[in-house]
Amino acid sequence: MIALLEARGIVKEFRFRDRCITVLKDASISVQKGEIVALLGPSGSGKTTFVSILGGLDRPTSGSVWLEGTAITALAEKRLARLRNSRIGFVFQSFNLIPGLTALENVELPRCFGHCPEGVRSAREWLELLGLGHRLSHFPAELSGGEQQRVAIARALVNDPAVVLMDEPTGNLDSLTAEEVLDTILDLRRRSGTAFVVVTHNPAVASRADRVMHIRDGVVTASA
Ligand SMILES: Nc1ncnc2c1ncn2[C@@H]1O[C@H](COP(=O)(O)OP(=O)(O)OP(=O)(O)O)[C@@H](O)[C@H]1O
Ligand SMILES: [Mg+2]
Repeated sequence: MIALLEARGIVKEFRFRDRCITVLKDASISVQKGEIVALLGPSGSGKTTFVSILGGLDRPTSGSVWLEGTAITALAEKRLARLRNSRIGFVFQSFNLIPGLTALENVELPRCFGHCPEGVRSAREWLELLGLGHRLSHFPAELSGGEQQRVAIARALVNDPAVVLMDEPTGNLDSLTAEEVLDTILDLRRRSGTAFVVVTHNPAVASRADRVMHIRDGVVTASA
């Protein structure tokens, strides 16, 4: 069976001043449709780097990533951007909301850049589901950290992606809100088969994942 998302032999080197740092040495992962994978690792171990490569936001030094059978590491930028917008959702560590747009506009933005799938929830519905129905016309600066995070989560889900990559999605949320976000993730996976790769330090998130992977010394290993 072909995995939904597959990365093989990912190497990532950064040039820093006159040095070369190897962050990922040989990182591989295989994620099935509807699977929730938690990715753990110490600070600086390469978690953000790895999910950026999985989602085609950054290119590896070597190695390949396939999404739904397409080698995204071989795609030209334009096709890659289109695929990213329609099939991949991101929740970044730093939210990356657009300051001049309201919560609702931020969630609406990625919608229908490509084709708009039938029967998917609207931006407003996503925000309501995530408990932000009363914050639709607030700007990011007028929202708490946890609220901004939920706007970012709604934005990641609005195009009904095949996989959602989340970098510390519950980091700024209190435990009750974090539970609600987790319930939403589990519900979505059950109903639409969305897969999630979730970078987390939160044991509650890791305990509800199907699989826990660790990244250390540039490689990804399964939890013992
Ligand atoms: N553009 C860059 N240029 C040089 N070094 C970089 C660059 N991006 C990341 N690094 C280095 O790569 C390493 C891994 O960074 P990364 O952000 O992936 O870690 P992380 O596991 O997400 O950490 P954290 O848990 O703190 O978010 C770090 O040592 C970082 O300094
Ligand atoms: Mg990080």
